[in-house]
Amino acid sequence: MLQVNEQIEKELSHYISVLNAPQIIKDAMDYSLQAGGKRIRPILLLATLQSFGQDVSKGITTACSLEMIHTYSLIHDDLPAMDNDDLRRGKPTNHIVFGDAYAILAGDGLLTYSFQLIAQDPKLSPDQKVRIIEFLAQCSGPEGMVGGQVADMQGENQNLSIDQLEYIHRNKTGKLLSFGVVAGAIIAEASNEQIDIMKTYAENIGLAFQIRDDILDIEGNEEIIGKPIGSDTGNLKSTYPALLTLEGAKERLHSHTSIAKEIIKDLNINTRLLEEIADLIEERDH
Ligand code: IPE
Ligand code: IPE
Ligand code: MG
Ligand code: MG
Ligand code: MG
Repeated sequence: MLQVNEQIEKELSHYISVLNAPQIIKDAMDYSLQAGGKRIRPILLLATLQSFGQDVSKGITTACSLEMIHTYSLIHDDLPAMDNDDLRRGKPTNHIVFGDAYAILAGDGLLTYSFQLIAQDPKLSPDQKVRIIEFLAQCSGPEGMVGGQVADMQGENQNLSIDQLEYIHRNKTGKLLSFGVVAGAIIAEASNEQIDIMKTYAENIGLAFQIRDDILDIEGNEEIIGKPIGSDTGNLKSTYPALLTLEGAKERLHSHTSIAKEIIKDLNINTRLLEEIADLIEERDH
């Protein structure tokens, strides 16, 4: 997927460069987008397309839109009013460089521009655009990432049950990862049955991804993960390790990636890439 990654990097900077907007907002949007990041959401979308035997270029714009929404969620997540973190992707956070007001606006800009890009994408049919835009709004908004972030804030300094914690993880993180997988399947014109299987795969790797994130907040290396260690403890967050112990969280992580790898065997397509991504999520160190 290396070449694909290069294409995503190229397109992301192209989309910012063609924006007709004040320079400061272009700079602030570009700063966080270009700060790097694993690009796991676009990779998932394009890997799904490839697994269904499709030309990945059909999904590049949607993949960039997804990465823009994810980057917006990180900029806002780091704000003093939220997690109050000063390091992201190995660099000072957006509000440290541009101030809170421009950081908020850079997030707003990335969120809204992403929908504009999908609506203007010449590679998608009108029907695909409507399905993708609707699902992206659902996954990003109050029924998805925003809802999860709200529950995450409400859960600070509380003793949450595992079900309440799972709601947070499914929404604040799982929904955007799921979008990547399902949008890839929609663009590939997969059947409804195949899309349902991909949804189960996505839900499981989505939960696994955030459990790993919680584990890395404890035993990760700040230089490798590019964000502060101990942020969750400092903010009195409920996390999987806090509820289940580090060992218990690792077992839960393994069980979700195993379910994900098992379910896709029913797809009748080459699932090697999707299995590799599940393994990568379980083992990642950043
Ligand atoms: C961090 O996401 C926030 C979570 C949802 C856990 P990533 O770990 O994908 O961050 P980047 O994009 O690689 O910086
Ligand atoms: C945030 O979860 C998920 C988002 C929607 C950004 P975290 O607060 O745990 O993410 P990090 O650890 O700051 O990347
Ligand atoms: Mg947070
Ligand atoms: Mg955070
Ligand atoms: Mg975290």
